[in-house]
Amino acid sequence: MMPADRAGLNFRQDYFDDPAGWAAIKSLLYDIFSVDLDPLDSVGGYDRTSFPSAFFDESGRCIANLSGFAMPLIIDGRPVKAAGWQSGAVRPDYRGLGLFRALIRHTLQRGEEQGFEAVVLYTDKPGLYAPHGFRTVRQFSFRGDAPRPIGGQKPARRLTIESDLGLLQRLLAKRTPVSQRLAVTGQAEMFLLNCHLVEDVSLSLMPDEKTVVAWRMTDGGAFQLLDVVGEQVPCLAEILGALDLTPASVETFIPPDRLAFDGEPVGDDGPLVLMMRCADDLLPTEPCCLSPLAEF
Ligand SMILES: CC(C)(COP(=O)(O)OP(=O)(O)OC[C@H]1O[C@@H](n2cnc3c(N)ncnc32)[C@H](O)[C@@H]1OP(=O)(O)O)[C@@H](O)C(=O)NCCC(=O)NCCS
Repeated sequence: MMPADRAGLNFRQDYFDDPAGWAAIKSLLYDIFSVDLDPLDSVGGYDRTSFPSAFFDESGRCIANLSGFAMPLIIDGRPVKAAGWQSGAVRPDYRGLGLFRALIRHTLQRGEEQGFEAVVLYTDKPGLYAPHGFRTVRQFSFRGDAPRPIGGQKPARRLTIESDLGLLQRLLAKRTPVSQRLAVTGQAEMFLLNCHLVEDVSLSLMPDEKTVVAWRMTDGGAFQLLDVVGEQVPCLAEILGALDLTPASVETFIPPDRLAFDGEPVGDDGPLVLMMRCADDLLPTEPCCLSPLAEF
């Protein structure tokens, strides 16, 4: 059942195709999170699997929103039909009225109708979602000594999102999951948007011209691997060789099971947590994380 209109507001769903509605959600997210969705317009727009639900005022302002979208995952080697939730926000003057509770319940129901097995989200307020069956999945990065780079390769080529968008989109469409423990299997839109949002990310095309590595160096000389997009996942020594890097140490922000890298898991105790709502046997069993370029 649709939530009833309330507090003088109108309930609307699936409104991103309406240019005024799209402008209104962009303005809500800018006002609440200072997130600018404009870069999304230049990389193909919003994810077409989105199923947003929202309340609007008479003047067309978006007052409250919660969006779901398809986010197919691999968890412990098993494909999982998962939905991601994002853009949950209520304008300050309308908080405490139950608007968000209504949006959570409705979005859960819509997800069940579409047959999603799991829902994933990031939040700094886990208490908001725990009563609805969400559980925190602790995230880890993986640290260790750098393997010796495999030399003698053609050098990798730096890409930019502006000049190499077509190539990136083609590779994203055919990518293999970067880990069997936990990874997205598709999801091009967030990767492209996050290239703008994640600090200092470099994109390099491996010599096979079919694989892109997202990475950065820290001031302390550590190599950070953020994501790999391609039909195969090269091992870490191959990546370092193509990038011609001999770093002091390595930290991966993807589980290292396909990288031939035995990094030590280091728990992330930051304010932002990953939560999942699913059956017990779908929860990841090994230390894992989602790539920062899949974050949403
Ligand atoms: C968090 C937010 C969406 C809540 O919206 P709201 O419309 O005021 O929420 P509701 O009135 O529907 O309250 C829903 C429930 O969440 C609880 N809640 C509200 N804010 C909360 C918070 N910060 N932490 C934990 N629980 C919270 C309420 O007590 C209520 O619980 P109940 O169902 O047991 O009564 C809103 O305060 C907001 O937009 N904050 C800034 C953006 C943000 O943090 N978004 C969510 C991040 S993922």
